[in-house]
Amino acid sequence: MTPARVLVVDDDPHILEVLAMRLESLGLDVSAAASPGDVPGILADRSFDLALFDLRMAPLDGLALLDIARKQHPHLPVLIMTAHGSIDGAVEAIRRGAFDYLTKPFVPEELRGKVTRALAERRWARDRALLAKLGTSLASGDSVDGVLGVVVQTTLDATATQRAAVFLRERGELVLRAAAGTPVVSDAELIAAAEAAMNGGDPTSVTVEPDRIVLAAPLRVEGRIRGVLTAETTQTVVPTSDDLSLLALFASHAAIAFRSSHDLEGARSGALAALGRVAAQVAHEINNPLGGLKIYAMLVGKRLATHGDRHGVDLAGKIGQAVDRLAALVSDITAYGRPAELRLEPTDPEEIVQECLALVQDKIEERRIDVACELDGSLGLLMLDAREIHKALMNVLVNAVEAMDAGGQLGVRTAREPDGGVRIKVSDTGCGMDTPTLGRTYDLFFTTKTGGTGLGMAIVRSAVERHGGRVEIATEHGRGTTVELVIPPSSVTPLPAEAS
Ligand SMILES: Nc1ncnc2c1ncn2[C@@H]1O[C@H](COP(=O)(O)OP(=O)(O)OP(=O)(O)O)[C@@H](O)[C@H]1O
Ligand SMILES: [Mg+2]
Repeated sequence: MTPARVLVVDDDPHILEVLAMRLESLGLDVSAAASPGDVPGILADRSFDLALFDLRMAPLDGLALLDIARKQHPHLPVLIMTAHGSIDGAVEAIRRGAFDYLTKPFVPEELRGKVTRALAERRWARDRALLAKLGTSLASGDSVDGVLGVVVQTTLDATATQRAAVFLRERGELVLRAAAGTPVVSDAELIAAAEAAMNGGDPTSVTVEPDRIVLAAPLRVEGRIRGVLTAETTQTVVPTSDDLSLLALFASHAAIAFRSSHDLEGARSGALAALGRVAAQVAHEINNPLGGLKIYAMLVGKRLATHGDRHGVDLAGKIGQAVDRLAALVSDITAYGRPAELRLEPTDPEEIVQECLALVQDKIEERRIDVACELDGSLGLLMLDAREIHKALMNVLVNAVEAMDAGGQLGVRTAREPDGGVRIKVSDTGCGMDTPTLGRTYDLFFTTKTGGTGLGMAIVRSAVERHGGRVEIATEHGRGTTVELVIPPSSVTPLPAEAS
């Protein structure tokens, strides 16, 4: 929707002026340069959708500029301008990658035709690249927010608007789920345009103010409209049906992301219920022999002690410890499969934070990690199951510490939420997660660690969600991770039927 940007270079100022005028009359944003020596700098500073270079120029001729342009912007189409009779140069230009050539003096139809074709080609190449990026993100099993993030960014790039956003209808209201760019209309105007598109069922453009337009395309999932993709622009240029079709295409990607996330949720809760049942049986079978092993290890230890075999006693002790670890793991699995009723009691969340920090103190010292702990201090008591929140926070803290090497920084903060709940924020400067890892963090048994079991984050989410809360993760691969547990004052969600 922003006019295409064209760079024109000719060392004949008269031709340059005429050409610039003709291109402007085609609605293009023209930058004209009379000295070819300036072109490398201009190309390095700004991006263009098309370039027109005269063939015969000094000190750099059209072919030299073509080489420079192709090196800096491989997808920029270039038209070479030649005088009648110098076809050889034009042929050479095409061999070196020019899109086409124009002969002087210009024939208006030829000029318009070739410029339009070059721009269309450019646009399709860019849209294809953007769609490929979207497709990769969808196929990589990114989380729904991850895919929606790519959808809005791609929409912004492809439509050259100021801002793109995705709204989903949740409990009757439109909720903003992803956005990129800078708003140019008010929230109320945007929502009104989004509602209009959802009610009409088709992509629409709404003129909000004389120079502000909102494009909106509904997100249709299995025949029902579940949300809307919007793009805002300050341009006065009226969007074409091509622009709306492009937006509809991106909206369909957002709809696919939305549907896959729902399918995944369904599959996940079904799989969890099944896993819970299997886990409970396996745990039952394993618990008895474990108990026996523990006793035998103790007996062997005692017997070796009477023989004065200290090394043997040590080994027997290690067997006992390994058995304890196994027993703890079994109890984690059973707890996940059949979470106990929450025992809500007035609890000081900051006390839990301090207890957990004390428990990871050894690991913190061992790894020489800096800790910055900022407690709000005025949260008061909340109705919580202290054991569950303790377990969740321990897992988050251990993950944070395990993600860091010596010299890392661990941040722990508590803050009061507007609803009176609490937000516990744990940040680390560790390895962070790449997109596929982030997408699978909550999957049972997913781990990237040699000694990990991959249960930690599943337990965290289960504990927090059973308190009616949510877990938020922000991570940057190689830079660090922030995990936030947001727990409301007392609302507790019942367990889903299958998992109980
Ligand atoms: N703070 C973090 N920084 C980097 N990666 C993390 C962080 N927290 C979780 N992860 C990633 O998520 C994966 C799953 O975490 P989770 O706690 O569920 O399992 P785990 O730590 O591997 O094993 P365990 O069950 O012993 O906790 C980790 O293996 C790691 O790749
Ligand atoms: Mg863990």
